[in-house]
Amino acid sequence: MNINDFIVQVALPEHRVFAEEICEEMAESAKARGTGIAKRSPEYVAGKISDGKSVIAFHKDGTWAGFCYIETWSHGQFVANSGLIVSPKFRKAGLAHAIKEKIFDLSRQKYPKAKIFGLTTGLAVMKINSDLGYEPVTYSELTQDEEFWKGCQSCVNFEILTMKERKNCMCTAMLYDPVEQKHDVAKKFAEELNKKPKLYERFMRIKQRLVLKAKPQNKGGLKSLLLMFTVLFK
Ligand SMILES: CC(C)(COP(=O)(O)OP(=O)(O)OC[C@H]1O[C@@H](n2cnc3c(N)ncnc32)[C@H](O)[C@@H]1OP(=O)(O)O)[C@@H](O)C(=O)NCCC(=O)NCCS
Repeated sequence: MNINDFIVQVALPEHRVFAEEICEEMAESAKARGTGIAKRSPEYVAGKISDGKSVIAFHKDGTWAGFCYIETWSHGQFVANSGLIVSPKFRKAGLAHAIKEKIFDLSRQKYPKAKIFGLTTGLAVMKINSDLGYEPVTYSELTQDEEFWKGCQSCVNFEILTMKERKNCMCTAMLYDPVEQKHDVAKKFAEELNKKPKLYERFMRIKQRLVLKAKPQNKGGLKSLLLMFTVLFK
């Protein structure tokens, strides 16, 4: 199985029939990982498909293989490429990479001035985002749109996010800024991530332990840790 076995395209209205399967897979995968997820309904996903704001992938035999969609926040100043999912039987073939590339291009085309961001706990997504030019940032650099943060309410870690006054949580925040064009830094970060995946995993374990332990007033420690992480990879 390789990437040439798949078709990755902007989803068309007739693909709305896959909305239910997509949502089921999102929920199943979140359960299997035991991690948090912002829940989506089939109607919401179908809406994204109708609006031309999503990318869908199929195996060449016609089986649904993957999905991702665009969300906009702060009146279009921020864009998130959310809900990335690859069917378990098609993983590790480079499909998430191809889907993210396509949705990134679509986002740049539709919202050329927007900052593109993501929150993730996964190394795979961090690698892909870095390749696309995203950099790790603090939560304060993300959209402050209440509607975005409401999406976290259905995540198992929501209590932690609230306890940390929305300044930190289990996810790592990453951002692509079209104005700053810090692509060289992001490229370097991507290379380091590839060279030292174990180091990153260790960092994530330390960060998550600290996030759980830290009292709300002890924000300095977490901030230094994030800075250390950013410096470590630069
Ligand atoms: C995360 C997910 C989308 C990855 O899909 P995929 O098609 O297997 O990913 P790719 O094959 O494109 O791999 C991308 C990179 O991540 C790496 N990778 C893939 N799965 C990984 C994993 N579980 N752990 C660590 N690295 C992983 C790949 O080796 C590849 O790295 P490389 O570019 O250095 O070769 C898929 O596992 C999934 O749908 N998981 C459940 C939903 C989810 O976690 N979504 C993300 C929410 S933020």
